[in-house]
Amino acid sequence: MHTLERDIAWATEHMPATRATLKALPDLSHVRLACSMHLDIKMIVAIEGLLERGAHIYLTTCNPDTVRNEVVAHCMARGSGNVKAHAWHGMSRADYNTSIERAIAWSPTHLCEMGAEITSVLAVGTAPATHVVAGLEATGSGITRLGKLSPTYPIFNWDDVAVKEGLHNRYMVGITACHAFFNRTRLTFHNKRVLVIGYGLVGRGVCDAARAYGGHISVVEMNAARALEASFAGWPVVSLEEALPSADVIITATGSRHVIKSAHFDLFKSGAFLMNVGHLNEEIDIPALYSNPHANALPYIERVRLGERHVYVLADGGMANLSAGEGDSLNAFDVTLAVMVAGIGFIVESGSGYSPGMHTLPARAWMPVAQRALL
Ligand SMILES: NC(=O)c1ccc[n+]([C@@H]2O[C@H](COP(=O)([O-])OP(=O)(O)OC[C@H]3O[C@@H](n4cnc5c(N)ncnc54)[C@H](O)[C@@H]3O)[C@@H](O)[C@H]2O)c1
Repeated sequence: MHTLERDIAWATEHMPATRATLKALPDLSHVRLACSMHLDIKMIVAIEGLLERGAHIYLTTCNPDTVRNEVVAHCMARGSGNVKAHAWHGMSRADYNTSIERAIAWSPTHLCEMGAEITSVLAVGTAPATHVVAGLEATGSGITRLGKLSPTYPIFNWDDVAVKEGLHNRYMVGITACHAFFNRTRLTFHNKRVLVIGYGLVGRGVCDAARAYGGHISVVEMNAARALEASFAGWPVVSLEEALPSADVIITATGSRHVIKSAHFDLFKSGAFLMNVGHLNEEIDIPALYSNPHANALPYIERVRLGERHVYVLADGGMANLSAGEGDSLNAFDVTLAVMVAGIGFIVESGSGYSPGMHTLPARAWMPVAQRALL
């Protein structure tokens, strides 16, 4: 069997909650679903199931670094005309913008987004009229963006539901980020100082996982209440400037831009690793860092020379667990993906009954997934 077919068969076998949720979907033959999402193999399980229910699908990414080209090609071949796509690994910002414009021109009736890119264009005054009935948003970064916009259709936040952020963000990102670090660098964190920036659910998981991989953890957190939580959890809370000179591994988990910027470069310890797991590739100012001499040290690892010192960057500052790793385990992501699929069923059946703007995905949409997934 071809490697991709084998991987898809394996993923499908180990994602029973997603399969069961797909089976329970209504007929989707009237649905034009535009998806802006990470396009990795696990997504194929959902996309194939949606196609079986009759959906028409437009695929773009929410992050060009996490696109697997073979996944896009497979979905287009499998969709036989019902899948349109404009996404490839490493596509430029201009191509990415075009993909969003094409998604809108394709006249979607429903959206499934991770980062609110399509809605961000649709919500500005100059955007074309839209046929969108309802949408889904999966990321904290997208929710923050949407808070500043006035969408003309309801959007359901499924990031803040217990079975998504409480499981995927809280546990899986940290574990898989540490796994990607270990696999790519061949190093663990033993006897290393690991600085975690951002103590949301993702940051908490990163702290726990990095500790399990041997690290000595400290936390930088700008929100005083969250900093206090980190302190109660036993992690030293420090300022970025105070911690950088001794940090061996610096992990950003904030959703904010340029958390690490050129003003910090003089403070790095030589040999330090920089890694991001937040949604934005811009948490670390990579263009500024790469204005210094740099070269590939190992796959996914760039060595940047800073005068007499050097630092290493994982996955060019992209989401390391996805760009340089496999992302969540199939069994854990099964729950996340099943919630997404249940959310699609919900917006198709009930979305039009809600007012424009943000809503949290109701428990009646996702609770059956939790009930099914329980041992
Ligand atoms: N890599 C993945 O697979 C994955 C999965 C889920 C979420 N995410 C992303 O990870 C990021 C964090 O997610 P979360 O659920 O923990 O979000 P969150 O908003 O709950 O937590 C982020 C924390 O970072 C803090 N912060 C923001 N800017 C900061 C700065 N400059 N310095 C210090 N602290 C700062 C905030 O105060 C907040 O406590 C988001 O961008 C989210 O989209 C990534």
